[in-house]
Amino acid sequence: MIQNVRRHGPAVFEGQPAVDAVLKQAWYAENVDSIPESARLLLEQYSNLEPEEVVPHVVTMMQDVALGKEIRYLVQDGVPSTQLYGFDLEPEFIELGYQLFRDRDRLQATFVSGDILAEPTTPEGQELARLQGEIDIIFASSFLHVWDWGDMIKAARSLVSMTRPCRGSMILGKQLGSLKAGQYKMPTSRGFNFRHNKESMAQFWQRVGDETGTSWKVEADLYQGHELEENRSHAWSEPDMRMIWFSAVRD
Ligand SMILES: C[S@@+](CC[C@H](N)C(=O)[O-])C[C@H]1O[C@@H](n2cnc3c(N)ncnc32)[C@H](O)[C@@H]1O
Repeated sequence: MIQNVRRHGPAVFEGQPAVDAVLKQAWYAENVDSIPESARLLLEQYSNLEPEEVVPHVVTMMQDVALGKEIRYLVQDGVPSTQLYGFDLEPEFIELGYQLFRDRDRLQATFVSGDILAEPTTPEGQELARLQGEIDIIFASSFLHVWDWGDMIKAARSLVSMTRPCRGSMILGKQLGSLKAGQYKMPTSRGFNFRHNKESMAQFWQRVGDETGTSWKVEADLYQGHELEENRSHAWSEPDMRMIWFSAVRD
């Protein structure tokens, strides 16, 4: 099913197949014989898999991102699933999440598929428009780095429109960053993504605030994460590449 998902960008990057570069070289391991401890515990304790079932099950699914794992961690930690919302461009990822975590019959989170860059009145944007003004805390994990500066602003404006319009609403996240903030070549739809450092992240939220008539208190910092190492072998990697976390709290 994943092989049919190709809406994120051109099929070729720097003369190589982009899907192979992205899925195979870094995120797609041919031989999986272990998985991170936190994921193993989640599958055993939340999804009730037997210990010996965990690795074969993950191998069958062959995908560990974008399937709503943060929502399952929150439920496992005691948050009522009725309070949780998730969205993705790809409805297939939502379906695969139910299959991976075996919770279709009990998870009561609301999942919505749609394009965050689409106007709320269009077919691609109308599902997401249902979330406008509803969300207290948005966790945007490895999400905004998909875009160049312009589309990242557009996506963040949509996230802002989803937050409850009051002081204390939060948008948090982590994503690819760089010691040297700027646009970098990337196999995404416009061919570039913007990688932030601490300073550019603050400027970014200032701009998003100006454009949406809102004000955000921002904290951010670069860090070295396992995600970085997984992406080091890519053609689009650069030595100054880092991860960055951010927290924007509405004033
Ligand atoms: C790198 S994944 C991160 C997923 C997850 N948050 C995680 O940390 O594992 C980025 C996600 O953004 C979704 N996405 C990309 N473009 C989108 C768009 N225009 N609107 C909504 N979701 C989009 C992709 O389908 C993908 O699931």
